[in-house]
Amino acid sequence: MARIPKPRPHAGVMDITPYKGGAADAPGVDSVIRLASNESALGPSPKAIDAYKGIASALHRYPDGEARLLLEAIGRRHGLDPAQIVCGSGSDELISLLITAYAGPGEEVLYSQHGFLMYRISAMAAGATPIAAPETDLCADVDNLLAHVTSRTRIVFIANPNNPTGTYLSTAEMQRLRDGLPSDVILAIDAAYAEYASADNYTSGQSLVVAHDNVVMLRTFSKIYGLSALRVGWCFASPMIADVLNRVRGPFNVNAAAQAAAVAAVEDVEFEANVRAHNDRWLPWLADELVALGVPTVPSAGNFLIANFGSAARADAAFGFLKGRGILVRAVGGYGLPQYLRVAIGREDENRAVATALKAFVATSAS
Ligand SMILES: Cc1ncc(COP(=O)(O)O)c(C=O)c1O
Repeated sequence: MARIPKPRPHAGVMDITPYKGGAADAPGVDSVIRLASNESALGPSPKAIDAYKGIASALHRYPDGEARLLLEAIGRRHGLDPAQIVCGSGSDELISLLITAYAGPGEEVLYSQHGFLMYRISAMAAGATPIAAPETDLCADVDNLLAHVTSRTRIVFIANPNNPTGTYLSTAEMQRLRDGLPSDVILAIDAAYAEYASADNYTSGQSLVVAHDNVVMLRTFSKIYGLSALRVGWCFASPMIADVLNRVRGPFNVNAAAQAAAVAAVEDVEFEANVRAHNDRWLPWLADELVALGVPTVPSAGNFLIANFGSAARADAAFGFLKGRGILVRAVGGYGLPQYLRVAIGREDENRAVATALKAFVATSAS
């Protein structure tokens, strides 16, 4: 019998393991503690919530396709030219747009071994080849990255700080990476957690964008600004790359509620400082508690940390134990780190609940 041809996606698509977000509920538990998605411990600024509500009566109107007020607000806050900023429906969309525009079949997208999963997924979706360069001590390694650059490499993605490891490359290392790349290869610095990273030798990558045509800095409103639900990210790029992104993005890719709330969020400098101060207090607190329990953690520059349970089986057991108590953290086996769990920093009561639960876990389980 003749075979009836069927629609087929292009090569690579069916090899994608779909991205799975952090869990939001636990069976049989009414009130869960959600620490699985690196969301903000303190939620959005009240001013952002007001701005969001203010849009309700204008939902029949299309959003401003240029997101002009948002570009200007981000530009004012960071001292950037709004013409070099492009917004997206989350930075996830900008990752995808960059890859779609610059990489395709036969071309490579490079990232570090435990880098954020969307680089691999978006590369495969575009038919490009994802390449992971080995890390050293769970941190991106500039020499290894440069050693994996070929004539097919189109983009190098670095999450700085990285999710899920929390580690970061110093300003000097980032500069060295940029300087080692051919001028036609884009360095995409994904600074989703930049607002939390306070070390003197940390850079969000902003000045590298100013100095070089082939660097893009990606940012998000999902993390410190607590607007994950609205899906809004932005990038700062050379005029040339910004122009390309504006050609390939959807005409109304950032919805009106997201635009309004994000403007209010980025202008509420005081609220942002409070969220940062909260993280500065509770991140080291949780790390110390875990270390005292015999569960080592990796120093993190973000609003989360990964904790080492020694084996995949013990990490699974800890995950289940916490879930049974309504505490949702993230398993990171999909990142090649099955012996670790990633825990976001929550409110004080949530952080204390994690420490108490893990104390009980450690008491009941042999390591
Ligand atoms: C490093 C990194 N980049 C990008 C994103 C995506 O953020 P958004 O919500 O803006 O799409 C995340 C979200 O977890 C992330 O950890």
